[in-house]
Amino acid sequence: MSSYDVIVIGSGPGGYVCAIRCAQLGLKTACVEGRETLGGTCLNVGCIPSKALLHASHMLHEAEHNFAEMGLKGKSPSVDWKQMLAYKSSTIETNTKGIEFLFKKNKIDWLMGWGSIPEPGKVKVGDEVHESKHIVIATGSEASSLPGVEVDEKVVVTSTGALELSKVPKKMVVIGAGVIGLELGSVYARLGAEVTVVEFLDAITPGMDPEVQKTFQRMLKKQGLNFVMGAAVQKTEATKTKAKVHYKLRKDDSEHTLDADVVLVATGRKPYHDGLDLEKLGIRLTKRGQIAITKDWQTDVKGIYAIGDVTEGPMLAHKAEDEGMAVAEVIAGKHGHVNYGVIPGVIYTHPEVASVGETEQTLKDAGRAYKVGKFSFMGNARAKANFAGDGFVKILADKETDRILGCHIIGPGAGDLIHEVCVAMEFGASAQDLAMTCHAHPTYSEAVREAALACGDGPIHM
Ligand code: FAD
Ligand code: NAI
Repeated sequence: MSSYDVIVIGSGPGGYVCAIRCAQLGLKTACVEGRETLGGTCLNVGCIPSKALLHASHMLHEAEHNFAEMGLKGKSPSVDWKQMLAYKSSTIETNTKGIEFLFKKNKIDWLMGWGSIPEPGKVKVGDEVHESKHIVIATGSEASSLPGVEVDEKVVVTSTGALELSKVPKKMVVIGAGVIGLELGSVYARLGAEVTVVEFLDAITPGMDPEVQKTFQRMLKKQGLNFVMGAAVQKTEATKTKAKVHYKLRKDDSEHTLDADVVLVATGRKPYHDGLDLEKLGIRLTKRGQIAITKDWQTDVKGIYAIGDVTEGPMLAHKAEDEGMAVAEVIAGKHGHVNYGVIPGVIYTHPEVASVGETEQTLKDAGRAYKVGKFSFMGNARAKANFAGDGFVKILADKETDRILGCHIIGPGAGDLIHEVCVAMEFGASAQDLAMTCHAHPTYSEAVREAALACGDGPIHM
């Protein structure tokens, strides 16, 4: 039996970051992981592989649509799917091996296998029981199931199967117009599949700024994605090579069917804590099955903490990472802090979509007076040169104090641009503070400054 200060269960972005920070703070640390590689959902079957396929398919899209206009003539590249999957796998490998290296560097023991907590202060992995003063549960999430839809990960797939298809399907039906559906739907549409997205609600990406939602859907339609909105999927029927998706339109209850070679079920994810026997330990769950925690990430049992997708809040890698660092600080007797009001969300389609903070709807609901500064990328020289003028930056600021309350961007580099606003918000900046900051020309970030100017006396280039 070995003895530790901290054992972290799960090596996703929450768990591995927590383990590294604990080790850096001088705590004897181990991390339990049941997968064959470290890095969790994010590195193995989530963020990283999906971004590799998004990148490769975007390159193809650029070659097919924009090269000729820039004077780059010649045959567009054709898709070698096997090689694209190999590129994706090597991207995963360099990242997961990177975490192994960091574990060794920080002297963190990787306890290989599935862990359980037989009693507080103890973690069992295989036949071995280890003692630990503190236990951090970072076991993540898994795809939610949908009644009437049986996943085989070949024809009817979750995101995991969609990252590993044997070939590019001719026809793909995506159930759910959320982040996964639109990112992976874009990948296959760019690779030549006829993609139809079936969404229960009347707008895509629920919770986002409505103007962004509309612009985003228009752009995706232009890229060839089809949408069936307000449709409740009833069931799927699959053979070994084909499937049918049956849905009812909510407006008139009419029944319809779509044929597909592959159906991607992307209707959300749910917390994963199988095998931990939380109830027996006295650890309470929320109504949605997440582990209930205090503001210091403590569960109901002293010395057992929980972070990341298995707890409440956005299911995002960087939210899990921030909690991982913060809980390590708490365990080490320091002050751990996560500002849940400033967690950006990014959709890595082309163009990217990014948002942080309040939306107009949340501000209206809260009865808070606000002003809007908006700037279109059509007024941005760099964007125009790069065929990226479609989209905008929208900054929301307090009507009286001018303090930035939120930002919504659809356009080139949105996922990077948003961080300028995140930093401004962390420092409690006003829109004028951003507007008075010199921005290099010609950059996409000038559009952020112009949106900030639009909160005051007005933008220059619009
Ligand atoms: P996870 O990453 O899920 O890691 C949990 C780990 O715990 C797993 O490796 C699991 O094997 C292990 N585990 C579970 N139980 C046990 C046990 N009992 N014993 C041992 N090990 C155990 N988020 C973003 O921010 N950006 C993105 O671009 C993005 N893209 C995504 C794309 C896809 C297709 C998917 C599915 C998700 C994506 N996400 C993205 C979400 C992101 O992956 C998660 O928010 C993040 O991985 C959560 O981290 P975590 O540490 O809480 O859990
Ligand atoms: P999601 O919650 O983003 O979207 C699910 C969509 O499915 C919603 O629009 C919902 O209305 C719809 N839906 C639900 N039931 C339906 C039904 N019966 N018929 C039709 N539509 C239905 O979930 P998604 O896309 O599965 O992603 C899961 C999580 O993974 C997200 O919470 C996200 O945070 C994370 N993720 C993040 C990424 C990023 O940050 N870029 C990328 C991919 C995933």
